[in-house]
Amino acid sequence: MILYFSATGNTKYVAEMLAKKLGDESLDLIKRIRSNDHSVIRSQKPFVICTPIYVSYIPLFLEEFLRKQKFAGNRKVYFVFTSGGGHSGAAGAAAENIVRRKKMLYMGYVDVKMPNNYMALKFIPAPSDEKIIDMLKESRIQVFRAAHAVAREKRIRARHITQAENAATKALAVFWKRFMQPSKDFHATDKCIGCGKCASVCPLNNIELRDGRPVWKASCAHCMACIGNCPVEAIEYGSKTQKKPKYNIKKYSGKNGAAVRAALKLK
Ligand SMILES: Cc1cc2nc3c(=O)[nH]c(=O)nc-3n(C[C@H](O)[C@H](O)[C@H](O)COP(=O)(O)O)c2cc1C
Repeated sequence: MILYFSATGNTKYVAEMLAKKLGDESLDLIKRIRSNDHSVIRSQKPFVICTPIYVSYIPLFLEEFLRKQKFAGNRKVYFVFTSGGGHSGAAGAAAENIVRRKKMLYMGYVDVKMPNNYMALKFIPAPSDEKIIDMLKESRIQVFRAAHAVAREKRIRARHITQAENAATKALAVFWKRFMQPSKDFHATDKCIGCGKCASVCPLNNIELRDGRPVWKASCAHCMACIGNCPVEAIEYGSKTQKKPKYNIKKYSGKNGAAVRAALKLK
């Protein structure tokens, strides 16, 4: 079974492609994460957990969720990481720790390079349409690699990550969450139609509608789900996102993808 969390669609795209290749089912974890539902997930096939990389680590809220999650059936667990740079930092070690604590079998991970969705950071430029289309095409190679290993229930080799590197990276992720991800700069512009989509996609239940307008509370993972899923692109993060296109993979996949490719005169 393919399990995934995805804020702006990259990881969902990869998870669904993998599920299709494996003839397996995929499960979006968002509802469970939002409601702290850790009831048993059962599968006769290996578990494949797909997640974006945040600050070279597994999103901290997802790490906590997975620690508590109960699994039954197959004992093998793979991970697939999507990230803007194609490198998952110390996430492999975090994944291994989660799996070993459950006395399940850690089978390794695959990195998939996808468009960087972290638009709240000034120094990260938005990728161009050409680059995004290219990356989606390239991502198939890594998904194929993952599918090949999972179908045969074979271990995936990856670089060794020391516990020291893991601890240092986790400390950075905790620091980043505490001091570098304030939610006070999120706001809805006059374009806001009060539909509540932002509140419904927030994995931390951090957005509340007051008088029909979203208000951000303190606990934010900066996942970009609110900005990237707003149907009228009304959400900004201070001035940092104002001149950037609002990223969601939906603009580039399926029929929309064909339209973008046609506009760019790509095959
Ligand atoms: C808070 C945050 C931190 C991120 N940190 C990293 C990082 O350390 N390295 C990297 O390559 N990409 C990083 N990214 C980019 C995402 O991992 C990447 O775009 C991912 O595919 C998004 O997945 P999604 O669309 O399924 O949410 C970060 C994104 C966010 C929102």
